[in-house]
Amino acid sequence: MENFVFYNPVKILFGKGQIANIAAEIPADAKILITYGGGSIKTNGVYDQVKSALAGRNVVEFGGIEPNPHLETLLKAVEIVRNEGIDFLLAVGGGSVLDGTKFIAAAVPFVGDPWDILAKNAPVKAAVPFGTVLTLPATGSEMNTNSVITKWETQEKLPFSSPLVFPRFSVLDPETTFSLPVRQISNGIVDAYVHVMEQYLTYPVNAPLQDRMAESILKTLIEEGPKTLANPQDYDARANVMWSATLALNGLIGAGVPQDWATHMIGHELTALHGLDHAQTLAIVLPSTLTIKRDRKWQKLLQYAQRVWGIVDGSEEARVTEAIAKTRNFFESVGVQTRLSDYGVGLDTIPVIIERFEKRGSVALGEYKDINSQIVEQILTLSA
Ligand code: NZQ
Ligand code: ZN
Repeated sequence: MENFVFYNPVKILFGKGQIANIAAEIPADAKILITYGGGSIKTNGVYDQVKSALAGRNVVEFGGIEPNPHLETLLKAVEIVRNEGIDFLLAVGGGSVLDGTKFIAAAVPFVGDPWDILAKNAPVKAAVPFGTVLTLPATGSEMNTNSVITKWETQEKLPFSSPLVFPRFSVLDPETTFSLPVRQISNGIVDAYVHVMEQYLTYPVNAPLQDRMAESILKTLIEEGPKTLANPQDYDARANVMWSATLALNGLIGAGVPQDWATHMIGHELTALHGLDHAQTLAIVLPSTLTIKRDRKWQKLLQYAQRVWGIVDGSEEARVTEAIAKTRNFFESVGVQTRLSDYGVGLDTIPVIIERFEKRGSVALGEYKDINSQIVEQILTLSA
């Protein structure tokens, strides 16, 4: 096992009715900014629950944070926080609202152009404290330090990470997700699944506990994902998917093991350039990444085949091929297509993506840092 430091201070309030308990988590004298997206929280009752939990508190609101949140929108919130003396943020929504709020939190005290936090890895030295009410299980943003922001002007989508943007608390009430459109549930299942794969499907380092935790999350998503799609009001299925998505990217399964993340980095470019949903890009790229890098991922692919899909017969070659095929079929079975052509994206996007990577520095993705421009091209070509 590799050395690691594991730290995760996020308090989770899980289950029905937990929004009612948020007031106790926020300092009594705080001036609060509630941040939200395009309005789903106003039609599904979540907004009303939050407002009644915060009755009598000093509250300001900022709505309109888009999916794949835009820098340009978030900077407007930064101004409000600075001008109105806001000292606590409450993000209410999906991963985009949470990520956007993390950026606001870090940008408020930042001296200089806040985009440098993403574009130049400028260190985050302070952040406004915040909590979250999650309404879409997918990203793990509710219990991690990551945020992915899009600069609309240049169509760039970049991540940043800082321990200062751990939420103080996150409410996970599965009932808030009952109103999700099918497409977003499908996306959430695939995003969580790929988060696990990015931390699991690399090479063995004799970390059987991390492996088995990862496999448990994958198997839970395979079992509970279809249930929650078939019956969106099945509380237990939704709860199981929600907690799986949180644990998929809260740092636990990735501690002490190599990590890949090439699929995510390539996927972000597809979203930035073509507007595909985050999970759609992952469903396209992951099967090709596994196929192109199969030789170096061989041992873990065999383990995955056996433990997650129960594939034990046939040659090693046949088992690896079947495991990758099962992965693709699973994504499609939960409603996310896996080919660039399914989304009308042509191969002419490949040189554009490679040029963007190269402009940012040398291309060295994956657990071995051996995915260069040529291999990105192979992966995307195979994804046609
Ligand atoms: O904006 P509203 O009206 O709220 O509607 C949203 C949005 O249109 C809707 N929605 C959310 N909860 C709902 C709901 N509709 C009905 N009922 C509910 N309960 O769903 C739509 C999509 O929301 P969004 O927040 O964009 O989705 P998701 O949670 O999948 O977040 C995707 C973003 O997270 C980033 C992605 O890159 C993308 O920008 N990621 C963040 C990560 C992290 N912080 O660790 C890791 C991920 O790999 C990912 O990159
Ligand atoms: Zn993701």
